[in-house]
Amino acid sequence: MIRLRSLIEEDNAEDNSVEFTIRRAKQDDLLTLVKLEEYTSASPWSEKALGSDLLNETGAVVLVAEAANTENKSVIGYCDAWLVAGEAQLNNIAVFQQYRRCGVGEALLRELMEESRKAGCTTMNLEVRKSNIKAYALYEKLGFVKDGLRRGYYEDNGEDAVLMSVGL
Ligand SMILES: CC(C)(COP(=O)(O)OP(=O)(O)OC[C@H]1O[C@@H](n2cnc3c(N)ncnc32)[C@H](O)[C@@H]1OP(=O)(O)O)[C@@H](O)C(=O)NCCC(=O)NCCS
Repeated sequence: MIRLRSLIEEDNAEDNSVEFTIRRAKQDDLLTLVKLEEYTSASPWSEKALGSDLLNETGAVVLVAEAANTENKSVIGYCDAWLVAGEAQLNNIAVFQQYRRCGVGEALLRELMEESRKAGCTTMNLEVRKSNIKAYALYEKLGFVKDGLRRGYYEDNGEDAVLMSVGL
């Protein structure tokens, strides 16, 4: 059997390990998160949208991963969800390219699921581009299952969105 990992381009952390901690995002993180969105997303979230989530105007939980092994602690990844009526909606998760495949994305998502559960949510939902097999593999690893397909959902290229959810 061919492993999924061998089918796609590897992300390359230099030594595949980084020490990091996870914490709630602060207003000071805004510009880094905007940069991360621009680097990693075909339809990046705006500074305004991220800013209102950081101010928690939207019932949002925003977590960042911060590298602990650099002199100036730097944000290397983040995730963002809205917690509404007992359901958590994952809006985005992203890790800077050079820190991928170190467990950062997984740790962020596990923590977000735990915080959502503690806040009373019973499920987490998300949409992922059909072509995004890295993210799909992460979600499957953490127990998300496919619920359906939203055809032509993404405005930039008309790609389908796969809908996934997990019980918390
Ligand atoms: C998706 C993303 C957040 C994963 O972050 P990461 O820190 O590299 O992921 P981790 O190192 O924690 O990997 C956890 C699991 O994800 C899956 N995964 C991550 N990268 C993968 C890759 N290149 N190939 C295959 N599986 C991969 C694996 O299941 C992995 O578990 P394993 O190491 O036991 O095989 C990262 O690739 C990213 O920022 N992508 C761009 C933004 C994006 O697409 N976000 C999702 C929007 S819906």
